[in-house]
Amino acid sequence: MSTSSDTNPLAETAEDASHRPIRTFHARRSRIRPSAKSAIDRLWARWGIDVDDRFNFAETFRGDANIVLEIGCGMGDATVAMAAATPETTILAVDVHTPGLGVILRDCERDGIGNVRVAACDAVTLIRDHIPNDALAGIRIYFPDPWPKQRQHKRRLIQPEFVSLASSKLKSGATLHLATDWQNYADQMLEVLSNEPTLRNTSEGFSPRPDWRPVTRFESRGLRLGHAINDLLFTKV
Ligand SMILES: C[S@@+](CC[C@H](N)C(=O)[O-])C[C@H]1O[C@@H](n2cnc3c(N)ncnc32)[C@H](O)[C@@H]1O
Repeated sequence: MSTSSDTNPLAETAEDASHRPIRTFHARRSRIRPSAKSAIDRLWARWGIDVDDRFNFAETFRGDANIVLEIGCGMGDATVAMAAATPETTILAVDVHTPGLGVILRDCERDGIGNVRVAACDAVTLIRDHIPNDALAGIRIYFPDPWPKQRQHKRRLIQPEFVSLASSKLKSGATLHLATDWQNYADQMLEVLSNEPTLRNTSEGFSPRPDWRPVTRFESRGLRLGHAINDLLFTKV
């Protein structure tokens, strides 16, 4: 697999005149439900994180030993259910789009869940610039944008450089958990993760979906289309 700058979301390319890294997400203006908007207005100051120059990961999570980063949480189906099931874990749920973060805040308030923090930012920047090494108890990336056309593959999040960087943020024994319904992206994920020397596969090849991972919105869409679902569970050496 190529590791050149044209397949690396961390790289800066001539394609982008302002020298921003390649975007792994779709630019869109999503509608936000009034209840989610209200949750953001009321609850952001308590549970939201503004990832700017003042953000200090260690200070924000002082006393939290079990922080799991969920990248691209979407509408938060997995986030809220998994937070409820593991109150000893703090989930940092990140997406570039805010409507889902509002839904998460709303549902956590409704269910009395206090172990979720949300951030609206590019997770590549968050990981690269703000998360210390050996800090995370896990990273979850469920159904990342598949960018199905060949010419779009450079936008896929799971590339060797990103996985190496992400792995450096995991504690020893922590888990990197991916899932996708796109077979050729699943194959790419398996190749990239298997070639990362700091990670070990917990299965031979793909893992069966663990019953503790809830079915997400994008997964349901994939299932309706008849796609096979592949999970990948690797641990940090
Ligand atoms: C296909 S959706 C999947 C959402 C959810 N995980 C699910 O399974 O239903 C992918 C999500 O990842 C988000 N995303 C993509 N690249 C991202 C990045 N670099 N940082 C944060 N979020 C990102 C997108 O905005 C989108 O909400």
